Order: sequence, then C-alpha cells, then structure tokens
Amino acid sequence: MRSTKIYERGVEIIPKAAQTGLRSETHYPEPFVPETAYGCKIKDVDGKIYTDYHLAFGPIILGHNNPEVNEAVKEQIDNGVLFGAGLCELEVEVAEKLIDLIPSAEMVNFVNSGTEATYHAIRLSRAYTGREKIVKFEGCYHGWHDYVAFNVNPPSDKMGEIYPHSKGILKAACDSTLILPFNDSDAFKELMAEHHDEVAGVILEPIPHSVGAIIPKKEFLKTLRNETKTYGSLLIFDEIITAFRHNIHGVQGEFGVIPDITTIGKSMGNGYPIAAIVGRKKVMSMIHNSVLVSGTYSGHPAGLAATKKTIEILERDNVVDYIARLGEEYRKALRELVEDKNITARVVGYKSIFAIQFAEGEVVDYSSIAGIDKEKFKLFAAKMRGKGIFFTPNPMKRCHLCLSHTEKELNEFLEAVAESLDELK
Ligand SMILES: Cc1ncc(COP(=O)(O)O)c(C=O)c1O
Repeated sequence: MRSTKIYERGVEIIPKAAQTGLRSETHYPEPFVPETAYGCKIKDVDGKIYTDYHLAFGPIILGHNNPEVNEAVKEQIDNGVLFGAGLCELEVEVAEKLIDLIPSAEMVNFVNSGTEATYHAIRLSRAYTGREKIVKFEGCYHGWHDYVAFNVNPPSDKMGEIYPHSKGILKAACDSTLILPFNDSDAFKELMAEHHDEVAGVILEPIPHSVGAIIPKKEFLKTLRNETKTYGSLLIFDEIITAFRHNIHGVQGEFGVIPDITTIGKSMGNGYPIAAIVGRKKVMSMIHNSVLVSGTYSGHPAGLAATKKTIEILERDNVVDYIARLGEEYRKALRELVEDKNITARVVGYKSIFAIQFAEGEVVDYSSIAGIDKEKFKLFAAKMRGKGIFFTPNPMKRCHLCLSHTEKELNEFLEAVAESLDELK
C-alpha cells in the first residue's frame, strides 16, 4: 500500500504525520494519504475513493477543486502572486462586498487564518477598552494562540476551571481568561457584575460547532449583547465556521445580535487560505495606528480572488439554502434510523452541519457533550471509512455538506450508517 509507505516515511520526520494536531487523528484506523479531491469525493494514493463529509474541517462549501474558483485564482496569479506593498483593487472590492454582507462590518482587515483573526480581535478589544480579561465559553474553539487555547473540550473533572490545551502557555494568559458555560445567562450576568471593569472582550462561536453543535438560546445572545454594551466590553463573534456556511450575512443577522467585532474565514475562500477581522469603525481604525497587525502574506491575492468568486457563486446559486435543506434531510433520516435501530445516540446540527453522538439528552452546553461514548464513535467512523465514507473519527467534531452532495450521497450514507450500526452491536 502506497499510503502506508508514505505514512511511514512521513511519521519519522513530521510529528504524528500531520501538519496540524487534529489532522493526525484522521490516520485512524489506518494512514490517510489523499492525492486528489473533486466535488464531494476525495481519493487516496491507492485509488480508494471516499465521499467526503470532513471537507477539510469545513471550508469546502462549493465542493473540492471548484473549477470557477480555481480559474479566478489562476487568472489572478498570472498577474502576480504577491505584491506585498500598498493596496490592490481586489482588496478594496472584497472588503466592500464584506461590508455589504455582514451587519457588523464597517471596516475589514484580511489575514490568512482564523487563529490570526481571533488573536487580533482580542488584542483590539484590550487596546480599545484598556482592560485585560477575556471571557471565553467552554466548548468554543478560537485557534491555538495563548489568548484562547483553553476549555474547548476539557476532561469532565476539569470543567469550569481554566484548562489549557497545551503545555507552554503563559500563566498570565491563564490568569486573564474567565471561563463560563455556554447558554448560561445568569452565570454571565454574575460574572459581569463582579468583573465588568476588567473585561475587555467576550468571545464566542455563536453556534459552538467545535464540539458538534450547541444551539444558542436567543435570550443568551441578547444578554451578552446587553451586558457588554452596558459595561463597555467588546462582543466578539467568531463566525469562522458559521459565516457563509450558514448564512451569507453570518448568523448574527438571523439571531438579531450584532457584535462589535466578527472573525470570519473557512468557507469564504472555498479552501484557499484567507480570513478576516471585521467590525465597528471606531475599533477597527485602531489597526496600524496604536494596534499592531502585521503579516507578509495578509490579503494574499490568491485568497482574495477565491473569496470574490466563492461569494459570487454562493449568491448566484443559492448555495446556503440548498446545503441547509440537504442537512435537514440528513438529520431527519438519521434520527429515524437511530430510532429504528433502538440505539443510544442523538443527531445534532444546524443547516449544513450535522453530527452523530453516542449519548442521550438535549445539548445546551459542553457538559451535555463531555460524556459521549468516544470509543464507540471512533469504531463507527472506522466502519464508515471502510464503506467509502470519510469524516474525522474525533467524536467531538462534525460532518459538513457542500454543493456537490446530493440525494444519492444521502442514500449511500444512510445505508452505510445502518450497516455500521448493526456491525457495532
Ligand atoms: C470557530 C473557529 N475559530 C477559529 C479557528 C481557527 O482557524 P484556523 O484553523 O484557520 O487558524 C477555527 C478552526 O477550526 C474555528 O473553527
């Protein structure tokens, strides 16, 4: 098997044979060495073709290797790969488009990854308010930097206390982060009553997809908005997953809560590296004045060309409605299947994202997820992979749909789930 040979070469010289931590898990139950990807299919170096529900952790919204997006990128790079000076018209065009689309956007700064975006958003909140503390919710992921690498999925006995996900994180970063359960308005009000003069920013995924899907209570989001406004802290929505995938305006529009700063990324470029910080002019105009934001590749023309074309296609082809409807069909059919098979499992999700979790009960915060049967999910994912269906075996994660998935893939998925569940019994 070429996959095994390449993996064995790689694992000696590349930690865990992966460039990013969670990607290493996709080598379970055997090495995964992709070679090509088109539409909703991904093929490995041994010629095995999978239907892809992982979609690179979510950015692929139009399908892999979208020819129109690729053409737009090629056209751009034929004119120059990176200018690294001044301002290109493409930057202005895409920024204008984002300001049209996203309710909280009055100014825009492009970067290359979600982690950079949340880093700058938090630094901005500290600079703007002159305060240090950041409120973060358990179950939300905002990247790997020291400001936020806490309490995404801590072990059950560590919930509620500060739990860094890495060694080497500064103690000062731990001390300036306040952790709360998601959806708990009273806990947030209590915290603000005590700490409001220290809180610079409150950051959250409006739908925490980093642990599957936690649907926010509207009243919770409104409380965050009201309290931060009252006490002069900045509200930061991390819409890296949700913007474009769930709503071309971000979910802030549909939930009716407009943050001060929004971070976006992933689906905006259909797989090309691009992200952005957008927000109120008064806050954003501190950038390059008193707040340092810097990056050799920021506003990269390839990412911008991809974003311009991706947004054009999202608008032209009503992509969000299509994948959201398909997601609803997947969830409904999966729930029926789980009921038929009489197993302990639940199906969670929102629009084009869904997840099967081996647990019962309603999901309101991370504590509803911490106890899911992780081993069973890994075995389930391995069975599905054997049947040509690919998603990460990480039990906390989720499946994504793209424009290339159809009813045919839905039926194949359901058949594979039915067989896998029977085999697991
Ligand atoms: C909600 C959210 N924020 C931030 C990030 C970090 O983005 P990146 O991996 O592009 O640095 C991610 C990545 O998965 C994410 O899901």
